[in-house]
Amino acid sequence: MIQSGLTTGTVPGYMPGFGNDFETEALPGALPQGQNSPQKCAYGLYAEQLSGTAFTAPRGQNERTWCYRIRPSVKHVTRFSKIEVPLWKSAPCVLPDVISLGQYRWDPVPHTEESLTWITGMRTMTTAGDVNTQVGMASHVYLVNTSMQDEYFYSADSELLVVPQEGRLRFATELGVIDLEPKEIAILPRGLVYRVEVLEGPARGFVCENYGQKFDLPSRGPIGANCMANPRDFKTPVAAFEDREARSRVVIKWCGQFHETFINHSPLDVVAWHGNYAPVKYDLRTYSPVGAILFDHPDPSIFTVLTAPSGVEGTANIDFVLFRERWMVAEHSFRPPWYHKNIMSEMMGNIYGIYDAKPQGFVPGGMSLHNMMLPHGPDRDAFEGASNGELKPEKLDETMSFMFETRFPQHLTEFAATQAPLQDDYIDCWDSLEKKFDGTPSVK
Ligand SMILES: [Fe+2]
Repeated sequence: MIQSGLTTGTVPGYMPGFGNDFETEALPGALPQGQNSPQKCAYGLYAEQLSGTAFTAPRGQNERTWCYRIRPSVKHVTRFSKIEVPLWKSAPCVLPDVISLGQYRWDPVPHTEESLTWITGMRTMTTAGDVNTQVGMASHVYLVNTSMQDEYFYSADSELLVVPQEGRLRFATELGVIDLEPKEIAILPRGLVYRVEVLEGPARGFVCENYGQKFDLPSRGPIGANCMANPRDFKTPVAAFEDREARSRVVIKWCGQFHETFINHSPLDVVAWHGNYAPVKYDLRTYSPVGAILFDHPDPSIFTVLTAPSGVEGTANIDFVLFRERWMVAEHSFRPPWYHKNIMSEMMGNIYGIYDAKPQGFVPGGMSLHNMMLPHGPDRDAFEGASNGELKPEKLDETMSFMFETRFPQHLTEFAATQAPLQDDYIDCWDSLEKKFDGTPSVK
């Protein structure tokens, strides 16, 4: 693709900031100045608006991007046919024979010899809410070993939060190119057309498909203007386009169903754009965690990277929460997560290392689900270790896990219940916790 040589940031190919009003052009003079819709655009380009919110959304939430492209998007679709993508499911997907009530944990979904692209390699683990009313989410594992060739995709249903765990992928999008590797995340907005190439495979990772309002940075409250995820660490690609004639297939996810349409050119033809509705990537190593510096263990919301609101204040459609390397210094405290039962439903994934509440069994590439109002917490080893260990400052090193937490119950797919490597004995990890109460008031 021909990429803009100009950038405003220090990382070549990307512009810094979260939700900024960006402008970028891959050819000089391609971006109109002072207006959006000139009578004639430079280079014979077509002007087109991509709206991520309703036209009348409040100014602080209003998102749209003006694209200057070789062909208007109406040329990037023709008639549609429905196709089957059997393992990519959408809510509601509540199966009578599947029990979602339970604490579940999975080993990493293994790679196979089968050729899998971004579309065919998506395996839905859970769904929540309803894609048709634009509430809720789905969690997926992707296994990708094959680049899309003359094939493009967009989801009208959702924005996709991508969390790689193995391998490197390239997202060649309408608005620029994002290269993504483990310890980074990307957000692909609803409606954005892209192709996914394998830079280093096989690739595995996690996806949170957000049917609802877009991910945003959480308010920091008394924490102030800095720390947690800082806006400058988000990187949006500069404009890049290709002018390529080739028989091409465009796959569209719309209301939980997949459709294909065929065209004779690449739809990645945006030469210049400006606006605030665009893909973005973020390096999780730049997340600055804030936590307990004297005693006790704060609620996990202290580690929120991104939040997608649900309309009920403080009750997210999805929170994306990161558990990364950090110092543990709390005095006279049980330092790991406490036992709890939560109205929110928590899907966790391990990117690398050891998670402090579960030293065994929750391995890189693995996932766990603690659904609405199901108790969970440290296993016996974690409990005993944290209850009896010396409370000197300790670095939790080599660890990065995350959580997709939603206000809606998460229902297991048939794949998650019967094909993914479910650990049947996970529930037993609390079995050996013993009664310590013997009527003696003193702490031993
Ligand atoms: Fe939890």
